[in-house]
Amino acid sequence: MSKAPSFPTITTEIAGVPVTDLAKRFGTPVYVYDAAKIVERIEDLRAFDVIRYAQKACSNLAILDLVRRCGAAVDTVSTNEIRRALAAGFQPHGNPPPIVYTADIFDRESLQVVIDHDIHVNVGSPDMIDQYGEVAPGRNITMRINPGFGHGHSEKTNTGGDHSKHGIWHEQLDDCLRRADQWGLGVTGLHMHIGSGTDLDHLKDVCVAMEKAALTAGRTITTISAGGGLPIPYEEDESYIDLTEYFRLWDETRKRLEGEFGHEVTLEIEPGRYVSAESGYLIAEIRAVKRQGDNLFYLVDGGFNNLARPILYGAYHPIAIAPADGDTARPLEEVAIGGPLCESGDIFTQEEGGYVSKRSLPVAGVGDYLVIQCAGAYGSVMGSNYNSKPMCAEVLVRDEQTHLIRARQTFEDLVRNEAIPSVVAATE
Ligand code: LLP
Repeated sequence: MSKAPSFPTITTEIAGVPVTDLAKRFGTPVYVYDAAKIVERIEDLRAFDVIRYAQKACSNLAILDLVRRCGAAVDTVSTNEIRRALAAGFQPHGNPPPIVYTADIFDRESLQVVIDHDIHVNVGSPDMIDQYGEVAPGRNITMRINPGFGHGHSEKTNTGGDHSKHGIWHEQLDDCLRRADQWGLGVTGLHMHIGSGTDLDHLKDVCVAMEKAALTAGRTITTISAGGGLPIPYEEDESYIDLTEYFRLWDETRKRLEGEFGHEVTLEIEPGRYVSAESGYLIAEIRAVKRQGDNLFYLVDGGFNNLARPILYGAYHPIAIAPADGDTARPLEEVAIGGPLCESGDIFTQEEGGYVSKRSLPVAGVGDYLVIQCAGAYGSVMGSNYNSKPMCAEVLVRDEQTHLIRARQTFEDLVRNEAIPSVVAATE
């Protein structure tokens, strides 16, 4: 289990490109991704037969293209995520399926799209089985099982247990297998994702639950998926999960099932955060420095419209200053970091519950930049247009070359689908 990297509080470059150049060229706020980090993280997981990237973490087409070129498959949770996967060059079907649709419901459009493109479906509710069987009898499906317990970095990211809406409740597996039979749907795989930010103790329980469920489903099972949830260290006192041990536990489960079934069982993993979090940086410019009683605030031009994890979960992200003048010898001071939005919760340094906390950061002023690290997962994808802020630009750095992979939204983009009804005045 390796320790977290050290997170510098002052930084001048990202993947070999000066932060000041990135900010001046692409404007701020801007997301910057280091392609090499994504490649490295996928390589870490090569022991698994299939690495299925959970694109909900970061679904920019260029990131999907990169992941595909690394030989990974992709998970999708909506119609447009399926379309993104297709647009990035993933084949709709194959063995193993390059694209899987995992959800707890079919909206009417997604049901049509999985049928039209023959996308493999991982069902998370009994109703999905009936709705799919009715229109596509004879196809194969995977079942996402809720084993009755879960674990996450926040209650909001715990996806197992009876308070969670996710997955087929473990006690209903028999009933769901019968439903699948009635429609002639083959159940070829089982999947368990108990939450984001899991640990090895919980994993052992998941492996036991998976084995039990697979034995209930029987010999039609040819794939088991460990789901996602691999944590990454966001703070220096955190560590990477022991991947060798993680793989060993799953591999033993797989081997026992192979012995039982007498055929090979493919082992999948479905990480989102592990693949993209550390590659991403949000750069914002400091636009105001103000003292409010005991608190000194740096106010930057990016807010929870760009990175919502702090306000949603009290999530901690490492933060560094990138000095505009290149002067890296600055004393430290205790500061809170806020964004531009007209809402008190627009604070990057906060704990769950909304309490403002402080960071020890180098003294900085208007015109210096702030670099929020480990922001490549659930960053840009959870951005919004609150306060009519545009979705910001995204840039990919590969071999020290910068590529604009998403242009900043314009005002015209924002209002494109809005309309003012024509009103006939009473006097006309
Ligand atoms: N597979 C399934 C079925 C999932 O529901 C998820 C995440 C993943 C894979 C990927 O999990 P990961 O490896 O990234 O932990 N917005 C939250 C995370 C929500 C995750 C939802 N499902 C956050 O910012 O922490």
